[in-house]
Order: sequence, then C-alpha cells, then structure tokens
Amino acid sequence: MSAPRPASPRPEGQRLDHHTLERYENIWFGIAVVMALFLFVTVLASFFSGTYPSLTGEGGHHITGVKNGRLNPKNLAATPFATPGLRQNADGTYEAFVVAKAFQFEPAVLKVPVGKPITIHVTSADVLHGYFIEGTNINTTAIPGQVSSFTTTFRRPGTLNVICNEYCGTGHHNMINAVKVEVQEP
Ligand code: CUA
Repeated sequence: MSAPRPASPRPEGQRLDHHTLERYENIWFGIAVVMALFLFVTVLASFFSGTYPSLTGEGGHHITGVKNGRLNPKNLAATPFATPGLRQNADGTYEAFVVAKAFQFEPAVLKVPVGKPITIHVTSADVLHGYFIEGTNINTTAIPGQVSSFTTTFRRPGTLNVICNEYCGTGHHNMINAVKVEVQEP
C-alpha cells in the first residue's frame, strides 16, 4: 500500500530501479571494504616492520632509565630528566635534558654554548606538549613516556623563546621559556 509516486522526470526506460541501485551500493560497499582492509593491513605492516615511529624511537637510547626511546613518565627520577639542564659528557659532547609539564618547561632557561653541537632530549611528565624554539626549525612534541631527541648547533648568541605549541590545558598559553645561547669564556 504505497502512496502514488510523483511522475519521474526521467523517461520510463532510464529510471533507476532498485536492482540497479543495490548493485551500485554493493560496488561502493566493496570499495569501502577493500579500503578498510588495505588500511588495516598497512597499519599492521608498519607496526611489525618497525616503521611506526613510537615503537622504534632511537631517542636517548643510551640514557639511564630510557629503553628504545621510552621511559616511565611517573619515574623520571630514575633518569637524567630528574635534573633537567645542560651537561657536558666526558667526551666533550653536550646533552640537554628538558622536561615539559603543565605548565612549564624545566629548566626554565636552558643555557647552551654558541657554536657547539648539542643534543636536546625532551620528554613530558604529564600530557602532550609542544617544544618549539622560536626562529628555528626546532619543533618537536613532548610525549609522556617517550624521549624526543635532536641535535642542533646554535650559531648566534642571544635569547630564544621556547613555546609549547600543543594545547595542553588551561595554562597552555603560559608555557613560554627560553634558550639562552651564550659565548663561552675561553
Ligand atoms: Cu604545554 Cu601547551
């Protein structure tokens, strides 16, 4: 018992009957299934082949308490992140440890020597934060449980602002700190 349909604008012969529509729908559904399977397989493949970034983080592989770029964010005390800041290793290389937490970076001011390669390790003590050094291409994410590491050389002395560019909560806009690039006394 269906109401009479309004006259189709198409001539009788071209009207889409439900068999045709179902065939189209089956085709679309088939394409969607193939795409979903493809995504599923590629995600799994990247997971097992180790190209999934968070599984093979090389960040800080030599750091105490850090394994495969990972650490326990609740136990930063067992890592050098317990005392954030710059240090010089026995071989003369520089490493800096930075902890992002709501809503500040530690150390508040990271002092680094000019013209020396410095490896900076960043992690978060709580939620996702950003670590962007103004005027440079240094821009990483501070992830709880992971270490983001990069090596850079600051070419000019001066003070650069560090900002959190990942929304992290009510104090997000206050997360501004500094890197102070200093000329070392000979
Ligand atoms: Cu930390 Cu936004």
